[in-house]
Amino acid sequence: METSIDTDMASAAGSSAASAAGSSAASPNKQSRESFDKHAPPVTLIIFGASGDLTARKILPSINSLVERSALSDEFTVVGVARTPMDDIGFQKLALECVPNYSSEWEKVVSRFRYITGEYDDLSTFSNLKTLLDEIDTTCGTQGNRLFYLATLPSMFAEVADQLARVNLNKPGTGGTFSRLVIEKPFGRDLQSALALNKELHSCFQESQIYRIDHYLGKETVQNVLALRFSNAIFEPVWNRSYVDHIQVTVAESIGVEHRGGFYETAGALRDIVQNHVMQVLGLVLMEPPAQVDGQSIRDEKVKLLHSVEIMEPDRVDSLVVRGQYDRGWLQGNQVASYREEDGVDPNSNTETYVAMKMMVDNWRWAGVPIYIRTGKRLHNRVTEVALQFKRVPHLAFADRLSRELTPNYIVLKIQPEEGISVRFGAKVPGQAFKVKTVSMDFSYGDAFSGETPDAYERLILDAMVGDPTLFIRADEVAQSWSIVDPILENWADEYSAPVALYPAGSWGPTEADLLIERDQRRWLVL
Ligand code: BG6
Repeated sequence: METSIDTDMASAAGSSAASAAGSSAASPNKQSRESFDKHAPPVTLIIFGASGDLTARKILPSINSLVERSALSDEFTVVGVARTPMDDIGFQKLALECVPNYSSEWEKVVSRFRYITGEYDDLSTFSNLKTLLDEIDTTCGTQGNRLFYLATLPSMFAEVADQLARVNLNKPGTGGTFSRLVIEKPFGRDLQSALALNKELHSCFQESQIYRIDHYLGKETVQNVLALRFSNAIFEPVWNRSYVDHIQVTVAESIGVEHRGGFYETAGALRDIVQNHVMQVLGLVLMEPPAQVDGQSIRDEKVKLLHSVEIMEPDRVDSLVVRGQYDRGWLQGNQVASYREEDGVDPNSNTETYVAMKMMVDNWRWAGVPIYIRTGKRLHNRVTEVALQFKRVPHLAFADRLSRELTPNYIVLKIQPEEGISVRFGAKVPGQAFKVKTVSMDFSYGDAFSGETPDAYERLILDAMVGDPTLFIRADEVAQSWSIVDPILENWADEYSAPVALYPAGSWGPTEADLLIERDQRRWLVL
């Protein structure tokens, strides 16, 4: 339905954003971005925590990009809700300021944005919201469809969901087809709290209405794992224990905890990265082929895979997992502080900023193939990749001295910052002797495809509006990945467990992590 809502809403908001922020910043033409193959239906996006960091840094800039891609309907608007006192104009100004060089089109869209100041434990916040949403449905043509994005502290998730249900906002408005809830990790801090959160959410929203974001699933290169595995005949036949020797997953960051010391003290790398991002990526790399690429088939296969991961006995944790923490060091020529010196961090903290672990998958495809995982902050480089190392050929006919530079074959899925796939194999060095050396065949996203890669949030927010749950985490996946890390957390809570190992910032982690893999006559890949 096409309507001329812009004018209506500009007057409803009382004033235009142009007058709030000064129209001089707007450029007349939208930037050119490739359009998506999906288009959102009319909907109101309601952001709880609208005055916060996630809204300004990710959500609103992604909405702007979706506008530039013409992926949103004309009948789209945003309502911000937060405790910070602000009016519509203030929120519109914020929405403009978080988009550098915004277009006049963004200015027009933003002029419809509304804002409600209120406490989340006060029912009147939610009855005011309901009144406003009903009004917007009439004036703006949003047709009763609502997407609630909880960009709040996770401790507020259950409360907000409950209050929404109390005023019937867990159902679409008149004429609408959906009311959905978007939440972002952490989903609990262990199995028990995750189950409790699932239960609280399920008491007000059905599972099909809940969209749990793991932003790694929104990354193009992570989604490309599916394309690589299931649209090519050459990879899948060797993607199993008969050919793969072991798998290495690296999620290395060079940044420290930045301004999030207080939060990080309650999390640590295992909860922050392994339980969610690493398990999700591994799910896609290791799962069985789905019957089709849709929300149910993909998530069924991922959860099946997670159920096959060997659960560690707590007394084996010390030999299978290394926890580390960054000490002072040097990065890109600058001296950086230790974790314990960061703002909001206990000077005696034992929180891990690094984890290395060995994991086994007990199923037909992966029996006996170790998965080595390492992730950490303040490491030498920012790099995320998954490498499958293949077994050596059964008999190497070349003389030792001629094949010294030959390493096993690898397929490396490069997730970031380089985006692509690299296949490493042996080739003859030109010359008379039959010398063999490892070479690499590289596919790079940037070279193969023009146009910039959309931000993970853009794709995910659009999918939530469209109602495609494929790239969102289901309740049973959350629970199962906590079951995998829970014994580790339990072991670490014990004062007699192996202490946190310090590593200098700018290194590749503690030496204990090298020992973990070298014990198996293997080595971490040099990145
Ligand atoms: C977040 C973690 O989920 O992922 C952060 O909370 C981490 O600590 C971030 O820095 C890494 O995301 P990306 O996309 O930069 O790899």
